[in-house]
Amino acid sequence: MSDAPAWKDDFPVSWVDDHYVTRREFTKSLVLVSGAACAANGAVLALGAAERAQEGKPLPEVRVAARRDLPVGGALRFDYPEAGRPCLLLRLDEERFAAFGQKCTHLGCPVLYRPQEQVLHCPCHEGFFKAADGTVLSGPPPRPLPQVKIEVRGDEVWATGLVRR
Ligand code: FES
Repeated sequence: MSDAPAWKDDFPVSWVDDHYVTRREFTKSLVLVSGAACAANGAVLALGAAERAQEGKPLPEVRVAARRDLPVGGALRFDYPEAGRPCLLLRLDEERFAAFGQKCTHLGCPVLYRPQEQVLHCPCHEGFFKAADGTVLSGPPPRPLPQVKIEVRGDEVWATGLVRR
């Protein structure tokens, strides 16, 4: 009778052989890793191409509100140019509207409209933007807020694109 424990009959691979990798296994892993890297690069290139194709397209025209829905000094949140891109429509006075991306250009906190001071305020680090054009008045924001083109058509307010700065 052998002195070897019974489990050795069920698992006959020695400890040394367990770490042995054949050339075939190594080549197989190399091919798999290279294939995965190629696929990831292909996906990144495809996404970049899709984004570049999107850049050339005109932005959608979207009805944001009826004039009567927004009193002077009021603000209305909407998404533009697509869902998940929050913007604020401001009514500066009886005739003038303005709209901006709501994410602060510093670290992305939502800005809030202060109609008495005609500013957009970022409460995270005390950033201030001019409500008329979104330029930085004070605080850490490095750039103006992205501005949405607004058109008043009769009783309706439409977003028609982004203002190039
Ligand atoms: S996130 Fe707006 S000032 Fe810092």
